[in-house]
Amino acid sequence: MSARRGVEAQRVASFGTTVFTEFSKLAVECQAVNLGQGFPDFDGPAELKQAAAEAMAQGKNQYAPMLGVPELRHAVAAHAQRFYEQTVNPDTEVVVTSGATEALLDAILGLVDPGDEVVLFEPWYDSYFAGIQLAQAVPRMVRLRPPDLGHAAWWFDEGELKAAFSNKTRLVLLNTPHNPTGKVFLREELELIGQLASKYGATVVSDEVYEHLVFAPARHVRTATVPNLADRTLTISSAGKTFSYTGWKVGWALGPAPLVRAVAKVHQWATFATATPFQHAVAKALMLPDTFFRDVVREYHQRRDLLARALTEARLPPYVTEGSYFLMVDTRAYAFDDDVAFCRWLTRDVRVAAIPPSAFYAEAHKGHAAKLARFAFCKSGPVLEEAARRLGRAKENRIKSGEHPAVNA
Ligand SMILES: Cc1ncc(COP(=O)(O)O)c(C=O)c1O
Repeated sequence: MSARRGVEAQRVASFGTTVFTEFSKLAVECQAVNLGQGFPDFDGPAELKQAAAEAMAQGKNQYAPMLGVPELRHAVAAHAQRFYEQTVNPDTEVVVTSGATEALLDAILGLVDPGDEVVLFEPWYDSYFAGIQLAQAVPRMVRLRPPDLGHAAWWFDEGELKAAFSNKTRLVLLNTPHNPTGKVFLREELELIGQLASKYGATVVSDEVYEHLVFAPARHVRTATVPNLADRTLTISSAGKTFSYTGWKVGWALGPAPLVRAVAKVHQWATFATATPFQHAVAKALMLPDTFFRDVVREYHQRRDLLARALTEARLPPYVTEGSYFLMVDTRAYAFDDDVAFCRWLTRDVRVAAIPPSAFYAEAHKGHAAKLARFAFCKSGPVLEEAARRLGRAKENRIKSGEHPAVNA
């Protein structure tokens, strides 16, 4: 081994420990209510646990087929037809992966060559940027801007989007509903993306893991159903968010056969197959009646509103969340240098943990997140109520902490 070279490959050298690790540790040390982590503190439907246990008891414990068990591939296709009138061939147009995270990386590695450009919206879900780096591709970022007097929801500048495209654009990475902003992309926005992707011959990867967590009047539009996009879009989703079993790590990619084949080529050498009994359980999950999907939204709506009220009272007004289970708040009433300092204080002194959204921005753009914090509301009622009580005392704590004499006027 050369003395000058570390053990790590160049492609991972810039990867640090994620802020999630720091804040989860701090939350435990400070006995904070953890609204940082983006996973539920409750289980999904008991019948799905039962289905996984039954699959194990029935001996469904060996490697699944590389593309996924037929029951799940058929259920993914039936779900696409039922909710989006999207016709999908379960034999050639679906591949099951170990969570959406694996599908995303497989898609990037399977569809992009080194030096190709990838258009993505910033802030991004953190695995996107890492995936682009692993593929040695070039990110072209388009900034999502917070709601303002002229915009009721998070928005982007059309000119900026157009300028991000070039003849080198190979892929567009989209996430709707969007983590961390809660934006649900409008049909017109997707149409514009479709026109540009079509003009430059780019493939679109649409991460729709929060597809069922959308709050009226917002409506989820499946990217692949928009003109120009059907034949160039790979849709990615997973069971984690909708069914509250994030630990099962069952995800999938669906779309035109050539795109699915590219994903499967990476998948077969990355994990080859995904946990068999959980695939059988998720096949049942996707067939749950409409009432299940309606109830999930209703319950999340209540959680969102409970937390949003508490945050507003604590002078942390949330921006509108149209979908997902996150609230982004405006922290300008509290005079901290940046989002990391604010979230550390909130975790230590108020004992409520949130995530500093600069984690979802490139190094040069972290300043855009200086006055933002992200709260997850995928938590049970009593936990959210305790967070609300603590947030109610946030202003007093701020004054007592002495570090900064008072909240801003
Ligand atoms: C936008 C987005 N995509 C993908 C994932 C990961 O999904 P999975 O747990 O299925 O790998 C998450 C999880 O937080 C997410 O927020």
